[in-house]
Amino acid sequence: MKIAITGATGQLGQLVIHYLLKEQAAANIIALVRSPEKAVDLKLQGIEVRHFDYDVPETLLPALHGIDKLLLISANEVGRRTPQHKAVIDAAKAAHVPYIAYTSLLRANTSKLGLSQEHRETENLIQASGLSYTFLRNNWYIENYLTAIAHVIETGTLLGAAQQGRINAATRANYAEAAAKVLTSTGHENKTYELASSESFTLTDLAQTITELSGKAVHYQNLSAADYTQRLLQAGLPKSLVDVIVDADLHTAEGAMYSIDKTLEQLIGHPTTSLQEAVKAAFH
Ligand SMILES: NC(=O)c1ccc[n+]([C@@H]2O[C@H](COP(=O)([O-])OP(=O)(O)OC[C@H]3O[C@@H](n4cnc5c(N)ncnc54)[C@H](OP(=O)(O)O)[C@@H]3O)[C@@H](O)[C@H]2O)c1
Repeated sequence: MKIAITGATGQLGQLVIHYLLKEQAAANIIALVRSPEKAVDLKLQGIEVRHFDYDVPETLLPALHGIDKLLLISANEVGRRTPQHKAVIDAAKAAHVPYIAYTSLLRANTSKLGLSQEHRETENLIQASGLSYTFLRNNWYIENYLTAIAHVIETGTLLGAAQQGRINAATRANYAEAAAKVLTSTGHENKTYELASSESFTLTDLAQTITELSGKAVHYQNLSAADYTQRLLQAGLPKSLVDVIVDADLHTAEGAMYSIDKTLEQLIGHPTTSLQEAVKAAFH
């Protein structure tokens, strides 16, 4: 059984490989990477590394030779992802890869998030390909809220536009562990899994948790879309990223990140990482 992972040098990809190695010999894992020079650690672990660039068609088909299961980790250039994913799906079909797991987005078929369109298109392409598949519809990463934690503590303010929308964000590690379970067990063909954390929180809860764990008072300030956009641009974030963040918060206010689905904890066999644990980890 040969299992290949795209984006294997990315944050999620590395974690998936970490969890796969608990279940599979390194010889059964193939890392598909855009940048082989970033894959030295993977090679040292005995994992075969193959060059695989979504934008370089001639790298795709040969790298998929002999693969039984492919995890397509969604690409990270918003707006270019559907053709990139299509190139991978077409190559998988041509290489007779029987099965693809794809990291999608929570409720991708109905989600109003701007990001959902490329995930919907990719899911449709996979279904149309006739290959067996599993859609791993990951909710937001909890880490998305913690990247600027030092600044949040320094200023005492957590900014957002999500109002009191409840959020079931899990850690990358939780989603990675679920992907590894799906890739190393049976019965997941042609299934769609909505993956979200066991417990939900609001951005007010997040500010409260940061306050408790840092000892510094932090409060959540809800802004209008225009004001939040302005503040993120002033902080130096690129407009394309700002649009994604603000869009996500506006839909969070309407429930886009909320889920009572327990599939994630069932797949990994334990509750997902708590907000407290995730904030503690962000301090390090
Ligand atoms: N649910 C969420 O909250 C959330 C948040 C952010 C992103 N995402 C999605 O989840 C994916 C995985 O997340 P992540 O944190 O692991 O992102 P990441 O660290 O940015 O990893 C993305 C991976 O995709 C690879 N990649 C990009 N363009 C490629 C190309 N043309 N050909 C081959 N590989 C290419 C990158 O290769 P290099 O290592 O060479 O750069 C990297 O390994 C993201 O790509 C994005 O689609 C989800």
